[in-house]
Formats: sequence, structure tokens, C-alpha cells
Amino acid sequence: MRALVYHGPGQRAWEEVPDPEITDEGDIIVRVDATTICGTDLHILAGDVPEVHPGRILGHEAVGTVDEAGDNVHRLSPGDRVLVSCISGCGSCRFCREGRHGQCAEGGGWVLGHRIDGTQAEYVRVPYADTSTYRIPDGASDEEILMLADILPTGYEVGVLNGNVRPGDVVAVVGAGPVGLAAIAGAQLFSPSHIVAIDLSDTRLEAAKQFGADVVVNSSREDPLRVLRDLTGDLAGRLGADVSIEAVGLPVTFELAVKLVRPGGRIANVGVHGAPVTLDLQDQWIRDITITTGLVDTSSTPALLQLVASGQLNAKPFITHHFGLDEFDEAYDVFSRAADTGALKVVLSN
Ligand SMILES: NC(=O)c1ccc[n+]([C@@H]2O[C@H](COP(=O)([O-])OP(=O)(O)OC[C@H]3O[C@@H](n4cnc5c(N)ncnc54)[C@H](O)[C@@H]3O)[C@@H](O)[C@H]2O)c1
Ligand SMILES: [Zn+2]
Ligand SMILES: [Zn+2]
Repeated sequence: MRALVYHGPGQRAWEEVPDPEITDEGDIIVRVDATTICGTDLHILAGDVPEVHPGRILGHEAVGTVDEAGDNVHRLSPGDRVLVSCISGCGSCRFCREGRHGQCAEGGGWVLGHRIDGTQAEYVRVPYADTSTYRIPDGASDEEILMLADILPTGYEVGVLNGNVRPGDVVAVVGAGPVGLAAIAGAQLFSPSHIVAIDLSDTRLEAAKQFGADVVVNSSREDPLRVLRDLTGDLAGRLGADVSIEAVGLPVTFELAVKLVRPGGRIANVGVHGAPVTLDLQDQWIRDITITTGLVDTSSTPALLQLVASGQLNAKPFITHHFGLDEFDEAYDVFSRAADTGALKVVLSN
């Protein structure tokens, strides 16, 4: 088969590789019908994720058709159409039993395109298939369902649910990339009074409006703290957002997210951080704030599937570009130049 192989920092190739094989009876082999590229793949290619070794097939998101199933797979058979989630979970370790599949202690968690070969290929081996894939419901297209492999559960679980967004809340989202936009779409489900999107890119802020942000702040020109104070100063005397969601992964944006919340506010960190971040505890200890962190578990995927299938959650606007499955060079080029191309999610399909 052909697959997109990582060959060390800055190097990748769409090339011929051996077909994947079942190595555990809980595995399935999936024929990939549609896949996409994540910002994390760009981090891997930049050499920021050293545990990914040269030779690894990239990708952790797919929709496909079961080609082969191991003898211990009970819920799936060849021909079934499935969503392959970015997180694999054994389903029975202490973390999986709490719904924390991201922390699976039995070799699950984020493994596809990371510790084992991934989905940017014609075929992929998916471990723990019964508890790591989802049947595709009627009423939604493959490419919409593909948005549930990573970004939608990430924005929803690590942003909206961890941040405990409630009706009437003022929600600030720092970073309007695909994950920040997913958090905006997820926050909408809770009827917040305002969603404030903060980014440096006007293109991304335009997208944020489409997803439901009613206030957008380009923080290269405007001070988001002032905007939040103006917005919330007369709301029962609260100064600041009820919830801020950090969806960038930089020290400066985390520090901003902390400052943006009111006393008693909640800060949900979603961004993957690669450098130490300052928490000014000498200022913050007195403000009753809550800070949450997390890797996505994809425990919300069944609920999100229902929401997309029933039309309550529109995943279509995430998809900005389409390519054939052998057009990875073009797709990576467009995705990595998002500021110029306006790319949010690029879909590669058969
Ligand atoms: N916790 C998890 O489980 C999980 C899962 C997936 C992704 N992530 C992380 O979520 C973050 C967002 O992912 P993404 O794919 O949307 O990334 P992205 O790079 O596409 O988007 C980041 C956005 O932040 C904006 N930005 C950059 N610097 C800024 C600044 N100083 N102020 C305001 N905005 C700024 C950019 O313009 C961009 O629109 C990344 O750190 C990613 O690694 C976390
Ligand atoms: Zn991802
Ligand atoms: Zn587990």
C-alpha cells in the first residue's frame, strides 16, 4: 500500500510500504476512505515530538471501512463503516473505566501516527477496535464525521466541558484555529451570553464569527482585557469572562487566558505547551480561579456523533479544502500555509 511516512524533521514522503497486519486479536484493519492533517502533524514534522521516530506513518484521524477484524473483535465486521478516533482505549484499565481513554494504561491513548503507524495511508491497523472506533450514523457525510476524530471532541471536552460552560456565561476563546473554533461550536450548545474569540489572524477571526463568536478581538491591534472589561463591567458587576479557553499553546496566551477570567472564573487549557509557562500565583491565589488541563479522551464522541447527525452541530464549515488520497504533498502545503490559504481542515479522500 501507499502511506505518508515521516523521515525525520522536515522530511516526509508518500511511498510504498508493507500492508498493515493484525498483531493482536482485538485489532482491525481499516481501509481509509477519508483522512485529514492535524496541527500536531506539523509539530511532528518540525521535530517537536521526538518520540515519533523516522519511518512512522503519520495521521490520527480517519473514516474508513473495516477490511479485516481480529478474532477478539466483537462489535465490528468487514464492511462496517467506522470513525477511527485519535485516541485508542483498551476499555478496561482503571483510566478507561473512568472514561479517561487518553490516559489508557494498557498501550492506548494517543498512539496512532505517534507510537504506532497512523491513518495517512491506504490502510491502517487500529488497536482495541471495539472501544476505539465508532460506527458512522445515518444522516451525516464522511467528511463531517471525520471532524469528530480529534478537533470536535478536543474543543468540547478539554475546552467546554472542563471549563464548565453554563447558560448565560461569557466565554473567551484564545486562539481560533480548528481547535479553538471547535470550542466555540461546542460552547454554543450551552447558550452562553457572549463568545469572545481572540486571535492574531483576521481570517481566523472571520471563521470564528461563522462558528458563533459574537465578539472578535485581533490582539495585535486591540487589548482583549479592555474588550472583556467593557463587555462584562455592567453584567452584575463581574469583570471578566466566566470561562476562558486557551487553544494556542504559548506562554503568552495561557497568561492572557488567566487574566481574562473574573474572580471565581474557570480557565481551561487546551493548547499543547512546549515551554515553561508563568502562573502569577502571587496575584491569582486570592481570585478563586480554577485551572484545568487535559488530553482529549474522546468520551464525548457518541454524543457529538448524535449532534452532528441530527444537525444540532454543523461540522461542514471546518472543511475548507479537498484532495485525493494521493495528494498529500499539495494538502500539507495548503494546510501548513493556513494564514495565506485560509485552511482550517483539509480532507483527503478516495
Ligand atoms: N489537549 C489536547 O488534547 C489537544 C488536542 C489537539 C490539539 N491540541 C492543541 O490545541 C492547540 C490549537 O490547535 P489548532 O490545531 O487549532 O492550532 P492552530 O495552530 O491551527 O491554531 C492556533 C491559533 O492561535 C493563533 N495564535 C497564535 N499566537 C497567538 C497569540 N499570541 N494570540 C492569539 N492567538 C494566537 C493562531 O493565529 C491560530 O489561529 C495546539 O496547541 C494543539 O497542539 C490539544
Ligand atoms: Zn490532532
Ligand atoms: Zn485503557
